Amino acid sequence: MNGPVGKAVSDDLSEAVTYPVDAFISREYAQAEPERLWSKVWQQAGRVEELKQVGDYITYNICHDSILIVRDTPETLRAFHNVCPHRGRRLVGNNTGGGPKTVAQDTGAHSAKGNRLRFSCNYHAWTFDLDGSAEHIPDAEDWGGMLDHVCTSLTPVQVDTWGGWIWINMDMEAGPLREWLEPAASLLDPFQFEAMRYRFRQWGIFDCNWKVALEAFLEAYHVQGTHPQLMKYGDFYSFSRVIGMHSQTGFDSKEKREASAAATSVHRAAGEDDPRYTIAKMQAEFWETIGGSTTETLVKAAQRLPEELPEGTPAAEVHRHWLESARRDDAARGVDWPEISDREMAAAGLAVALFPNMNLIPGPTFSLYYRVRPYGTDPDKCIFEAVALDRFPEGEEPETEWTYAEQDLSQWPHVIAQDISNMVEVQRGYKSQGFKGNLPNPWQERKVTNLHRNLARYMDAGAPTPIPGPSDATEHSRLSEIKEGAQNAEHS
Ligand code: FES
Ligand SMILES: [Fe+2]
Repeated sequence: MNGPVGKAVSDDLSEAVTYPVDAFISREYAQAEPERLWSKVWQQAGRVEELKQVGDYITYNICHDSILIVRDTPETLRAFHNVCPHRGRRLVGNNTGGGPKTVAQDTGAHSAKGNRLRFSCNYHAWTFDLDGSAEHIPDAEDWGGMLDHVCTSLTPVQVDTWGGWIWINMDMEAGPLREWLEPAASLLDPFQFEAMRYRFRQWGIFDCNWKVALEAFLEAYHVQGTHPQLMKYGDFYSFSRVIGMHSQTGFDSKEKREASAAATSVHRAAGEDDPRYTIAKMQAEFWETIGGSTTETLVKAAQRLPEELPEGTPAAEVHRHWLESARRDDAARGVDWPEISDREMAAAGLAVALFPNMNLIPGPTFSLYYRVRPYGTDPDKCIFEAVALDRFPEGEEPETEWTYAEQDLSQWPHVIAQDISNMVEVQRGYKSQGFKGNLPNPWQERKVTNLHRNLARYMDAGAPTPIPGPSDATEHSRLSEIKEGAQNAEHS
C-alpha cells in the first residue's frame, strides 16, 4: 500500500491521491490564473438565445478581462476584448469581474447586454463597427497616416458555439472548440441542448474560491452528509471517471461497480418502497427543493404513477412507463424529446464536468448546470451561477434575466443552499494549520482530482500525487511523512 510519493498519477486517477490547498487560498496562485489559465482555455460565456438580432451583445467578465460578444450577421458571432484601443477605456461598462468599480456605466448587473449597430467609446468617441474595425476616429488626420487597421481595431477573441452555448477563447492560437470539448461533446450531443432555453438563471458573489464552489457539485459522495433527506430515494453511490480534460459521474452500486450503472440520467429512485410512490415523491421533492434536474412534465407524470400502474409493477417498468407518458404529455404541447438510446443515456451518466469551470446534469428535456468564475484575482471570492434549461413549445420560451441572490441560504433552492452551506466552511478549513491536504475518494471523486491534475498542467503547481499508504511508523513520523507528501505535491 505504500505508494510512491511525488510520482505522477495514472491516467484514470484510480489511486488514492492528495493535493495541496494553494489552488484555493494562495494569493500568488490566484494572481497567476488570468495569464496561465484563463487566457488559454475555452470558456462558456452565455447562450446563443441571448443574441438573436444583429447588434445584440453581451459581456462576459473573467478576472480583470472583459469580453464583448456580438451578433454581427444573422449567422455569425464575433468576440472582442472589451477595451478601446485608443487609451484603454472599457468600451461597454459593467463590473462583475471584480476590481475597481466603474462609475458611469456600472449597473451592478451580472453582465452588460443590449443592441448596438456600432460601439462608440464614451471617452473620445472612437466608434467601431460590429466587425471590430474603427469606423470613425475623430481628427484621425492628426496621426499623419500612422494608424492602421490592426492598431485601431478591437482585439479579437475566438468565439464558437456548441450545445446552444457561446464559448470564447482569448488565445487566438488555441485549437478548435469541438476538439477541446471532446470526448464529452459526443457523449452529450444526443441531448440537443441547443434546442433548450433558460428557465431560470441565478447568480451570486460568494466568499470562497471558485474551485471550492464548483467542487461542491462535482460528486455525489456528499449526498449522505449534505443532503441526508435524499437518502430515502437510494444511496446515490456513484462512479466517477476521467474523460480526457473533462470528467463524469454516474449512478453505481457497491456490489457491482459500474456494471449496474442506471441506464438513465433521470434518477430512477430506489429503495424498498413501492417504486410508483418513490418516484412520485422524489420528483415532487426535486421540483420543490432544487427547482431543476427535472421538469414540470416529468413531475406531473410521476404523480400519476400510482393510479396508472398496478401495485407490484417492477421498478424498471415503472420508470419506463413514467418517461414514456411524460414524453407523450410533452409531445401533446408541442415539445418533442430527442431520440436518446439507453446506451447513450448511460454513457452520459449523472453529471459531466467540462474543464475548467462548468458542471452539468444532462436530461432528455432539461439541464441543470453550474458555472463558477473567480472574482477578480481574490482567492477568497467567486462568481457562482446556477442555471436550469428546459424545452418549451416554440414561441412560449420565457424571458429570463440573471437574478442576483446573496450568499444567504434562504435565497437559493433548499438543496443548492445545502451545497452552498459547505463552501465558506471549506474555504476556512483550507486555512487551518491542521489540515494535511485533500484526500479525495479514489472511486467517487475523480472529477475533483481530475480538475486539479488539469489545473496543475496550466499552473505548474498543485498536481495530485499518490498518498503514502499505511505504515508501521509512529504517529509523529507518519505525520511528517504525510506532510512531506503534500509538499512534494506542491512542487511537482
Ligand atoms: S479611450 Fe476610447 S476613444 Fe479614447
Ligand atoms: Fe449537492
